[in-house]
Amino acid sequence: MNITVQQGEIQKRTDEAVVVNLFEGAKPSGATAAMNTALNGLISTVLKGGDFAGKKNEILVLYTQGPGLPKRILLVGLGKRNVLSLESLRQAAGTAARKLQNLGVERASTVLHGAGAGGVTVEDAAQALAEGSLLACYRFDAYVTAEGPPRKRLKALTIVEHDSSRLSALRKGVKAGKCLGEATCLARDLANQPGNKATPTYLAGVARQLARRNGLLCRILDENAMKKLGMGALLGVSQGSQQPARFIILEHGRSNKTKAGRADGPLVFVGKGVTFDSGGISLKPGTGMQDMKFDMCGAAAVLGAMQAVAALKVPQHIVGLIAATENLPSATAFKPGDVLKTLTGQTIEIINTDAEGRLILADALGYATRYNPAAVIDLATLTGACVVALGNHASGLMANNQALADRVLKAGEVTGERAWQLPLWDEYRTGIHSSVADMKNAGGREGGAITAAMLLAEFTKSYPWVHLDIAGTAWSAKTTPYIAKGGVGVGVRLLTQLARTWETSVR
Ligand code: BES
Ligand code: MN
Ligand code: ZN
Repeated sequence: MNITVQQGEIQKRTDEAVVVNLFEGAKPSGATAAMNTALNGLISTVLKGGDFAGKKNEILVLYTQGPGLPKRILLVGLGKRNVLSLESLRQAAGTAARKLQNLGVERASTVLHGAGAGGVTVEDAAQALAEGSLLACYRFDAYVTAEGPPRKRLKALTIVEHDSSRLSALRKGVKAGKCLGEATCLARDLANQPGNKATPTYLAGVARQLARRNGLLCRILDENAMKKLGMGALLGVSQGSQQPARFIILEHGRSNKTKAGRADGPLVFVGKGVTFDSGGISLKPGTGMQDMKFDMCGAAAVLGAMQAVAALKVPQHIVGLIAATENLPSATAFKPGDVLKTLTGQTIEIINTDAEGRLILADALGYATRYNPAAVIDLATLTGACVVALGNHASGLMANNQALADRVLKAGEVTGERAWQLPLWDEYRTGIHSSVADMKNAGGREGGAITAAMLLAEFTKSYPWVHLDIAGTAWSAKTTPYIAKGGVGVGVRLLTQLARTWETSVR
């Protein structure tokens, strides 16, 4: 979708459709009032008739008659003015854009929603508008070959602004929203691809291509290189599969000095990239197993975020690390009772081969140490227990540094990718105590999201670290204002927001 900004009067547009907005319980004002006048009070009539109240994500399509008018007017509700947020703007933009696309409209104009209300700046409102529109129109239909009329896409959205002093902030916000929307859609595409397409080798190929197009450094470690390094945990998980594992390293802005000072290393993003998780020898039940193609959503988020920070030229040194593998049962697969030796030399007794995410992350987090990171954020669809605890509306957050935890929580609040913190108290360490190795890979059912993170914590002692368990947020079973059923691309916007606002060290 091409999103552009033009100076002009919305009521003079003659597009296929024009989008204006209304706050709940308010009279038309600004551009909506101008449109109302051009329409001889049609909007006032609709409001008086009680057919539209301006409630959050309410939408109404009006057809116009006469020359010099757009064919349709879309009225979108912004909800109550005093509770306006960036999230409600993203949703309103998404509701309108998806409606346009479903109506078969290919080109439309819109006003900028919400700038000025609730302390929302023009730039932020423009970013939210672009982000929400792009994300809402996302569809994954790569494999639908059944005949039928080709489904139209919304191709062009023009933001019409009459105040010339707002144009440059508007264009800046649109640019950011476009980069973030596109990077999130990349992550969604990777997530939605089936497991027979999106293998570890495929993810490595995407990383290479992304690096070439965006000027990132890229290194891919094959299984031989992993063996030399001693990544016994990642190799152990990969052992049962015909598809070789890959360890992906992407780097942005190595020459950028962080504002925090020379001593600080990069921000490091780590992603779990299990391209299909059958559970291995500890096989999962069949029902719903197809969803385990989404077990690489942490990796998808890291790839998306690396694309976004490069496209936005974020002035920070940022490294992306991805451990990519399948988890399958076979005669060569790792087994319960096995002991794996990780990159750092720490050993792990395998209790359950389905607790594979923490194993591959142990090697990736160990690898991160070599960068002397300013901070490490890992994202992983790690535990069903996290979904039981928080449902689908928040990712689980666990950390060894509260200042970093607070920054990540804040970033997620801003982007609408909320996280909720769970404790990592020492007492939980008994859950992974092993009498044959340094730790075991699975505790009991109690506090499962936390005991998984306690294992990760064994490998992150030398740097500030946050773990995001995205098991409940990585894919969606239903369609919401700017999220389609399937991969959500969660984490892309959060990580990029964190990087864009990173200033001082948390050490
Ligand atoms: N990928 C799964 C976690 C998962 C489950 C994500 C459901 C999303 C939805 C992970 O590898 C796993 O299987 N975890 C086990 C751990 C257990 C064996 C200790 C789990 O959560 O059941
Ligand atoms: Mn598993
Ligand atoms: Zn898994």
